[in-house]
Amino acid sequence: MGAMDDVSMNTNMHAAFKREIRRIQAGLTKAELSDQGARARLAKRYSFFSDTLHHHHEGEDQYLFDRVKPKASPAEVAVLDQMEAEHGQLNEILTTLDGQFAAISADTDKQEVSNQLDALFDVLTQHCDDEEQNGIQIVQRYVSEHDVKEFMKFTRDTEYAKLVLPWVCDNAEPGVEDQTWGMIPGPVRLFLKPMMTRKYDAFSRECAV
Ligand SMILES: [Fe+2]
Ligand SMILES: [Fe+2]
Repeated sequence: MGAMDDVSMNTNMHAAFKREIRRIQAGLTKAELSDQGARARLAKRYSFFSDTLHHHHEGEDQYLFDRVKPKASPAEVAVLDQMEAEHGQLNEILTTLDGQFAAISADTDKQEVSNQLDALFDVLTQHCDDEEQNGIQIVQRYVSEHDVKEFMKFTRDTEYAKLVLPWVCDNAEPGVEDQTWGMIPGPVRLFLKPMMTRKYDAFSRECAV
């Protein structure tokens, strides 16, 4: 048994990021940008998405890819370097979007922002495919229990951590809900699942997406 046999959370988060880009695009299309409240709601939702995606990449770079590189073969290191380079590319697009949402105003060109979201969707889709098909297996081969523990601790260490699990399940494929909540031991899950789901539902209502 390896330190990371179950990678469903990585795959399920990738799908959730892609759904979220489309959700934000739909929100952008219908938002009345002359209304300050509507702008703030959209920006808040985007901020959750952007923080969660930045955090996902930072966690992989720091606690997975960099930790296993010293144990991997040159060919495997090249794959991991490619994963990090793709994170860099994604970061550039995401940083442009961060600026666009931070400066959102009545004069914002919706089409321009939507095009940037399309670009992010395309690059993210390619990266997720590469990672799921090539990158994560290398991590699984070499990652230690200690690294996985630190990685898990890092993934929980974010402002939006309580929203992430219900968000991963929002509009997901059948089976994702069981995989996602199955990561939490039963007795704790009984308490956490309704609490976190309530928080996420309230957040979604607040952001009106
Ligand atoms: Fe990932
Ligand atoms: Fe990644």
